[in-house]
Amino acid sequence: MPLDVPAIRDQFPIFRRRINGKRLVFLDTAASAQKPQPVIDAVVRVWSEGYANVHRGLYTLAEEATEAYEAARVKIARFINAQDTGEIINVRNATEAINLVAYSWGDANIQAGDRIVITELEHHANLVPWQQLAKRKGAELAYLPVTDEGLLDMTALPPLLADGRTKVVACSVMSNVLGSLPPVTQVASMAHAAGALVVMDGAQAVPHRPVDVQTLGADFMAFSGHKMCGPGVGILWGRRDLLEQMSPFLMGGDMILTVKRQDSKWNELPYKFEAGTPPIAEVVGLGAAADFLSEIGMVEIHAHEQRIVSYAMARLKEIPQLDVIGPGPTERGAVVSFSMAAAHPHDIAAILDEDGICVRAGHHCAQPLHDRFCIPASARASFYIYNDEADVDALIVGLQRVIRLLGR
Ligand code: ALA
Repeated sequence: MPLDVPAIRDQFPIFRRRINGKRLVFLDTAASAQKPQPVIDAVVRVWSEGYANVHRGLYTLAEEATEAYEAARVKIARFINAQDTGEIINVRNATEAINLVAYSWGDANIQAGDRIVITELEHHANLVPWQQLAKRKGAELAYLPVTDEGLLDMTALPPLLADGRTKVVACSVMSNVLGSLPPVTQVASMAHAAGALVVMDGAQAVPHRPVDVQTLGADFMAFSGHKMCGPGVGILWGRRDLLEQMSPFLMGGDMILTVKRQDSKWNELPYKFEAGTPPIAEVVGLGAAADFLSEIGMVEIHAHEQRIVSYAMARLKEIPQLDVIGPGPTERGAVVSFSMAAAHPHDIAAILDEDGICVRAGHHCAQPLHDRFCIPASARASFYIYNDEADVDALIVGLQRVIRLLGR
């Protein structure tokens, strides 16, 4: 069933705002999504009715907070079809989730002479942790190239796997700049056949399409709550057997069973990786976001976004001064980055803002990818459940105004 966008938009209080006197056209969900009332209510409810620290107190409020926090973990596990809740680690953001793997798994398993393979389309969050791990260990960091169309060049993978030196392959499920969708399941089966683990950055995928970690092929996957209408928390999903073997990344309260003066024993999963007081209300809010999106339907959300991105790309073609990077609409998610010879992306974003249109401008935390396309920056429009064709039309009118103001 097609999404009822006006009804969905009604559930997001932010759309009652006007920006510079204009209707809000929010096209920056790839950076962070807006929040619907049920998520806001869930967070406020924790703080106003059932807040206390979790896993510690024996009084009613503490038990209620712990119950809500753990119930959210069940919802998040269900959302990505994780086998058990011990595989769901609540962290600050997707960046921290990937750092956790790079430090905890990487430091113990990567040695001098090993190879780490990433791709040219990675967000810095799935690049810098591996780059620095390679530097710490004297390992090689190799990049799977991106074609001129913005797709992963899969012919480069077999040679990188042939000598058995590759220990880990890290790959985004969807590029936050090109929108392209690397064939991650194929990457995973090739990597596994060569004895390498696979870490996936699901930040741009999990909010937008059904993602099932039991069929995806990843050993670890990171994603962000804030990009799926939830608060600012991140999730690391990992295979239980791997997480069991790993040492904690952060040390402190709640992640221990016993502490003696000279040694400590770690708590069971997932608590071993959740040192200190967690973001309690935020995790509960993410559980509400998972419910909210599931109720709309992830299949329906994906179909809606495919329709909007196809419409957007067709309409952007009407502007010859504009260069879109990345593949066609059938090979991308709902993200479109573009540049214009006559206008810096920052100027594009500033002019669109005058019309109430929010796009991101810059390198989108993907500098090597922009270097690959020989551009310092781009402007990016990204779409979600609250966007429709009218938003695309507003973008086109805004871009035509950019051209009128800054030349052809
Ligand atoms: N990762 C976010 C983006 O791509 C911040 O904009």
